[in-house]
Amino acid sequence: MTNRYAVVLAAGQGTRMKSKLYKVLHPIAGRPMVQHVIDQISSVNVDKVITIVGFGAEDVKKHIGAKSEFVLQEEQLGTGHAVLQAEALLKDKEGTTIVVCGDTPLITKETYQSLIDHHEKSGAKATILTAKAPNPFGYGRIIRNEANGVERIVEHKDANDKELLVDEINTGTYCFDNQALFQALKQVSNNNAQGEYYLPDVIEILQQQGEIVSAYITHNFDETLGINDRVALAEAEKIMKLRINERHMKNGVTIVDPEHTYIGPDVKIGADTIIHPGTILKGETVIEEEAEIGPYSELINCYVGKGTIVKQSVASDSKIGNHVKVGPYAHLRPESSIGNNGKIGNFVEIKKTDLKENSKVSHLSYIGDAHVGSNVNIGCGTITVNYDGKHKYVTTIEDDSFIGCNSNLIAPVTIGRGSYVAAGSTITKDVPEDSLSVARARQTNKEGYASKIKKQKKD
Ligand code: UD1
Ligand code: CA
Repeated sequence: MTNRYAVVLAAGQGTRMKSKLYKVLHPIAGRPMVQHVIDQISSVNVDKVITIVGFGAEDVKKHIGAKSEFVLQEEQLGTGHAVLQAEALLKDKEGTTIVVCGDTPLITKETYQSLIDHHEKSGAKATILTAKAPNPFGYGRIIRNEANGVERIVEHKDANDKELLVDEINTGTYCFDNQALFQALKQVSNNNAQGEYYLPDVIEILQQQGEIVSAYITHNFDETLGINDRVALAEAEKIMKLRINERHMKNGVTIVDPEHTYIGPDVKIGADTIIHPGTILKGETVIEEEAEIGPYSELINCYVGKGTIVKQSVASDSKIGNHVKVGPYAHLRPESSIGNNGKIGNFVEIKKTDLKENSKVSHLSYIGDAHVGSNVNIGCGTITVNYDGKHKYVTTIEDDSFIGCNSNLIAPVTIGRGSYVAAGSTITKDVPEDSLSVARARQTNKEGYASKIKKQKKD
C-alpha cells in the first residue's frame, strides 16, 4: 500500500477573527477546530501526521497532544512556505502527502478518503479537493482549460473579473505525490497581491511541467467551509450541531428541536431518550436509555442513568442514577452522586455529596460535603452548614433518617440511622441512631395577649 502522510496547516494567527485566541483553537461544538481536523484525518490510515504551528504554537501542541508531530513555522510567509517547513521530516519519503488546513473543521473522514482514493487511482501528481460554492467570495478559484482540465488556482485577491465569476473553489485540501510536492514548492514565488508563498501555486508549476493535476469535486460544500471570521465560525457551529444531532436521532434518540439542542462530539446517549429544546450536553456526558433531559438543562461531564428525568437544571462532573427526578431548577455541582430512584427538587444545590438510593431532597436546600444514606428524606429548607470561613466539614446522614424542614446541620455532624430531626432545629451535636432530636426554642403561647396589643395601639 502507498505510504500516506498528512500535513495540517495551523500556524496562522487568524487576523480576521479579531481575537486573542488563535484561530485554530476557537471551539466548534466545544472542541478546538484544529482538533476536529486532526481527528478526521487521523482516522483515514495515515502513517504520520505533521502539524505546522506558529502563532500560539505551545497552546496548539497542548490541545493536539500525541496525535501529531509538530514543526514550527517561525514566520507566516504563506501556505506554501508552511508546507515547506515539513521538508526535513518528509523529503526522503515516497507516497501520498495530504495537505489540509486547520481552519476547515467540517471535512469528514469519508471525504478525505474519497479524495485519497481518487488521487491514487488517477495517478495524478496533485489532486485538489474542490467544491461549487453558492458564494465563492474569498476562496481561491479553480481555473480550468478548454479540455476542462485543471490549470491553476487563482486567489480571490489576485483574480480578474472573469476569474471572480468562477464558482468552483479550492477547499485548501490536496493530495500530492510527496516528491513532486517538495520539488515544486521550491519554485513558488511570493509575487502576488499578498506577498505570500501560496501552496496553490504548486498546481500551476506541476501542470506546466506536463504532470497530471486533477480535481475531485465534493458535492458537499457545507463540509468545506473555511473559518476565517466569526460569521463563518457560527455557521460551522450550526452545521456541526445538526450533524451531531442527526447522528443521535439515527441511533434512536428523540431530539424535539435539533436547531436548539447543543451536544458535544463525545457525548453518548441511549435509545428512546428524549432531549427537549435548550439542552446543552458537554464533555464526556453519558445518558442511558429512556431518559428525558430538558427543556433548558446543561450537563457537563455527567452520567445520567436509565429513565431519569432532568428538567431546567445544571449539573457538572456528577453521577445521577436510574429513575431519578432532577429539577426544575436544581444545581448539581462537581463530585455529586444521586442514587437510583432519588429526587432532587426545585431550588436545591448539591455539592460534593453522595446520596444513596431512594433519598430525596425535594425543595430549597443546600447539601454540601455530605454523605447521605438510602431512604433519607431531607425536608424543605435544610442546610448543611459546611464552612466556617476557613475549612469545610462533612455531614453524615445515615439510612432511613428524616430531616425536618428548615434545619441547620452544623458540620462536622452525624445523624444516626433511622433518626428524626425536628423541623426548625439547629443541630450542633451528633444524633444517635433511632432518636428524635429537637433543637429549637420551646414555644410559649400567651393567651389573650393579641387583643391587649391592639387595644394599646388604639389608646
Ligand atoms: C486558503 C487558500 C485558498 C482556499 C482557502 C480554503 C492559499 C494561498 N489560499 O486561503 O485558495 O480557497 O484556503 O479555505 O493557500 N497558514 C499557515 N502558515 C501561513 C499561512 C497560513 O500555517 O503562513 C495556515 C492557517 O493557519 C490556516 C491555513 O493555513 O489554517 C489557511 O490559511 P488562510 O490564511 O486561512 O488561507 P485562506 O485565505 O483562507
Ligand atoms: Ca482560511
